[in-house]
Amino acid sequence: MTEWIWLNGRKIQMSEARISVEDRGFQFADGVYEVIRLYGGKLFALPEHMARLERSASGIQLDLPLTTAALATEIRGFCSSISAGEGMIYLQVTRGAGPRNHVIPQFSGQGRLEPTLLFYFRPLPILPAPELVPGVKLISMPDERWQRCWIKSIALLPNVLAKSSAVAAGADEAVFIDNGIVTECSASNLCAIAGGKLITHPIGKKVLPGITRELLLPIAAKLGIEVQERPWTEAEALAADELFIISTTREISWVSHWNGKPVGKGHAGPVTMRLHGALRDYIQRDLVASFAYVDEIMEPVRK
Ligand code: PDD
Repeated sequence: MTEWIWLNGRKIQMSEARISVEDRGFQFADGVYEVIRLYGGKLFALPEHMARLERSASGIQLDLPLTTAALATEIRGFCSSISAGEGMIYLQVTRGAGPRNHVIPQFSGQGRLEPTLLFYFRPLPILPAPELVPGVKLISMPDERWQRCWIKSIALLPNVLAKSSAVAAGADEAVFIDNGIVTECSASNLCAIAGGKLITHPIGKKVLPGITRELLLPIAAKLGIEVQERPWTEAEALAADELFIISTTREISWVSHWNGKPVGKGHAGPVTMRLHGALRDYIQRDLVASFAYVDEIMEPVRK
C-alpha cells in the first residue's frame, strides 16, 4: 500500500520524500514534534496539540511556516484524503536546511531558513481495556535530560537510551529520577494514586506538558479526586496504591513493576479504571463534538 507524507505543503509518496543532509533537524536535532491520535479516522485533541506545537516552536525561537489553524486544516485534509483510520499522525518541524553552523542563521544576520515541516500517518492497534493488558514494567534511571523538557524537542537521545536500557532489562519503560524526585517516563507522564489522591510532578523544566495529562487532571478533579501536582519521591512511588503512565499512544496504562519488584495492587486499580473510563468518555464526546463542528462549517457548502 502506498504510504503518503505531507512535506512542505505537498502530499507525496513517502518513497519520494527527500530532506537535505544539511537540514538542521538532521545535524543538530534543531526541531520539535507532535504525536496526535486518531480514533476511527477522527483526530483527537488537535487544538491542544497545535497549541503545544506553537509553544514548543517558540521555545526554540522557531517561527512555524503556517498558522496552526492552517496547519490543522492541512492535517484534517491529509487524513481524509488517505482514509486514515486507527492510528497517529507524527508531525515534525525543523529549522530547515542551511550550511552547517551552530549559530541559528537569523542570529548572525543571515535571515531565516525555510523550516522543514512534515507529517504522516502511522496505524496503531485499538487499545484493549486496561484490565486486559499486562501492567507496565518500569526501570528507574537518573534523569540526564536538559532543563527544558516542556519543549517537545526532537532531541530524544537521553529518552532513547533510557527506554532501550529498560527494554534490554526486560521492562517496558524508563522512569526518570532527578535527585530522588520522580519526574516522568521516557515517553509518557507518570501518576500515582495514594490515599485516594492523584499525584504527579508539575510540568516544566523536567516534565513535558502531556496532552493526556492536560485533559486527565481536570477529569480527575471533576470525579472528586484531589489532584496534587508536586514533586514526589521514589519512596512515595513504591508505596503508592496505584501507579499508571499516560500518553497519546498508551492512554492510561497501569504499572505493575518498579525495578523488578511488584508495585500497586497487582492489577489495574479501581481509581485507574475509573479514570480510564472517564477519559474514554471524554474522547468519545470530543470526537462527536469535533464532527458536529465540521458538520456546522460544511452546512453552507452542502446547501
Ligand atoms: N510521547 N512525556 C514524554 C517524555 C513523552 O515523550 C510523552 C509522549 C509524554 C506524554 O505526552 P502526550 O500525552 O501528549 O502524548 C510525556 C509521544 C507519544 C512520543 O514521543 O511518541
